[in-house]
Parts: sequence; structure tokens; C-alpha cells
Amino acid sequence: MDQIAFHHDTVLSDVHMHLPGARHLMTRLNSVGQPVFVSRFKVLVEGHDNSDRGKVLDQKEKLNDPQGDTKTSPCQDEEKDGEGNVEPFLDEDGDLDVPHRPRENSAVGGRDLVCPVILKQSSPVIELEECEEEEEDRCSEGVLRIEHTMATTLEDVGKQVWRGALLLADFILSKPELFRGSTVLELGAGTGLTSIIMATTATRVYCTDVGEDLLRLCKRNISLNKHKTEPADAGVEFSWTEEEVADLYDNTRFIVAADVCYDDDLTDGLFRTLYRLCSSFTHSCTIFISLEKRMNFTLRHMDVTCQAYNHFRRCLSQLQDLSDGRCVFRVEQVPLSFSQFLLYERIEQLELWKLSAALLPLVDVQLDSDLLSS
Ligand SMILES: C[S@@+](CC[C@H](N)C(=O)[O-])C[C@H]1O[C@@H](n2cnc3c(N)ncnc32)[C@H](O)[C@@H]1O
Repeated sequence: MDQIAFHHDTVLSDVHMHLPGARHLMTRLNSVGQPVFVSRFKVLVEGHDNSDRGKVLDQKEKLNDPQGDTKTSPCQDEEKDGEGNVEPFLDEDGDLDVPHRPRENSAVGGRDLVCPVILKQSSPVIELEECEEEEEDRCSEGVLRIEHTMATTLEDVGKQVWRGALLLADFILSKPELFRGSTVLELGAGTGLTSIIMATTATRVYCTDVGEDLLRLCKRNISLNKHKTEPADAGVEFSWTEEEVADLYDNTRFIVAADVCYDDDLTDGLFRTLYRLCSSFTHSCTIFISLEKRMNFTLRHMDVTCQAYNHFRRCLSQLQDLSDGRCVFRVEQVPLSFSQFLLYERIEQLELWKLSAALLPLVDVQLDSDLLSS
């Protein structure tokens, strides 16, 4: 197979688009015949100050190309007349073919083209090689190995890694003491990257999403990175025991969700779930939601809008205004001044929101009714 064809009715995460081709390798087909790729995410030991973008990008180039033999894209190859001038040329049909010059200091400059290659298919020899690679990664503490698919339909977006997951992971890595020893629930975990990072500091992480296929991928990623986390109970596959449900209600201190607000109905579902959980927990709980504000041109508006984001903001306001006597929510945006431990573009459309849910003391309600009846 020379090239993978991406159909136009699919979406591809920028995370996979921007990673170097050499690390974007197809390893197998999953049970529904989708190509599965493996990406390695290097976790920097010392986070980079996000105000120093130049340094981060410099580091990114080094990590992508430790031997300095990175293939340049065709566009970059064109630019070698010493002056940075690009010579236009004619294509086979005689049309003028003007290559796009990478913008200087642009965060997208220097990216490799993504050229997935089938390296191996399942066979005993390959499985042995896989074990050796896993062993290698096990030894390199600072590397996350994540299997994912590329260019999925909207229903399958959880099988890719999204920038929101990396932003949330960065936040966790920059504040490990906040989550240390706690019980955490992740909603819409997708490939499980954020949960895996969370498990390096939290005591227990409930990693949730929908769909057997996706959960199997997520489980595989957890086992690929088990050197970073404590092994979870084998238990019954993808189901909750009574003890776990009780533990969730009694002990969850944090709920996290990365890039789960891109469809109004799903966003409504998310906020209903958050409300139900927080008002049933026995403790107050803090929620962190990361997202990317995506702009789309719509024919209805004849303009660029960010509908999914606007809906998310409306849901936030409604939650904050809620006064049902059981639970109150305080909503604030978290400044993205925390360090960057993972390599991705922290574009200005990325946001992190903190929702603090406080249970109102039931005793007050009781007292009020006592007063009323006396
Ligand atoms: C764009 S993916 C993000 C995956 C991962 N958190 C990341 O950032 O890489 C969105 C995920 O959220 C899940 N999701 C969205 N809304 C949901 C809902 N209401 N209930 C359950 N899962 C939901 C989807 O199944 C999907 O896996």
C-alpha cells in the first residue's frame, strides 16, 4: 500500500497532521478494519515556559529529528536558491505551479508531511518485534505510546488524539500536587492519553467513553503505557462493579473532559451528566474542561461562526445560574500560562475551563422545613 486515501467526509486531528512522518506508523488494522497508527509523545522533564515559543519549537525540531536527517517537504526543497526565493515552475500540463512558501516563524513551518506506511502486519515475528519496542518504551520513562486511527468520521473522533487532550495533560503535569492521591473521572477519554497522564499522580482514574471498539483501543493504550501507571483491576470488561460506583460517588474530587464539546446534543448530554454527578456526589468536586474553539463558515449565517463553542458557553452560563438548592457551580477560565510538557501548537483557540461544584448543606434545607412546620 503506497498511500492512504483520506475521504472528505472524515476529520483528521491536527495532532496527527503535525507529528513527524517517521513516528506516524501504521501498525495494524483494528477489529472493524480501520488502520491503527502508533504515535510517541515525548513528555519533557521540565516544562517549557509557554511565553518562550521559539524555544519550544526549537526543541520540537530536535525531538522530531534527533539525527538531523528529517526529510523536508517538497515545498521546503524548492527553497534552496540561497536567497529564500521560490522559483515558479510549470507542471506536466504547462500550468503555472506556485509552491507555498512556509511562513517565517510560523508554528507550522518545518512540519513533515504525514506519510503513513504499513510497517508490519500481525505475525509471530512481528509480535516479538512489538514486545521489543514496548520494552524499549518501558525503559524510556518520558515517552507515551498511543495507538490511534486517523481521519475518522465524526462518530469515531475519539479514536484520534486531539489538542484538548494535550492541553489538559499539560495542565495535569504542571500541577501534579493538585491531583495527587485523588479519585478522578474522565468523560469522553477517547484514546486515554489524558487519563494515562492523570494516573501518574492520581490514585484512581475512571476513564470513560462510549463504544466497545474505542474502549478496546483505550484499554490497549493503558496497557502500552503501564510503566507509567499502576495496573488496573482486570474485572469484567468495560463495566462498573457496585464497589466502583460507590467509590465514584463517595470519592471523586475531579472530573476532567478534553475536547468533548463539538456537537450541541452531546454538549447538552455532557452538562446533564456533570450536573447529575456533582449533585449526587458526597463531596464537592472540581471539573476541568479543555476545548478548541473551532470556526466554521456556515451558509445559514453566511459568515464564520463558532456554533459549538457558543453553545458550550451558553451551557456554562446556565450551569452557573442554576439555583436548585442542591449544588452551586462557579465557572472560571484558566489562564494558559502553565508550562508546556508535550509538543503541540498551543494555539489561541485552545481554552481550559474550571467549574467548581459545591454541594449546599442539606442540613439548611432540613432546618428551613423544621422552621416552617413549627
Ligand atoms: C474529539 S474526541 C476527544 C477524545 C479525547 N478526549 C481527546 O481529546 O483526544 C470526543 C470524545 O468525547 C466522547 N463524547 C462526546 N460527547 C459525549 C457524551 N455526551 N457522552 C459520552 N461520550 C461523549 C466521544 O465519544 C469521543 O470519544
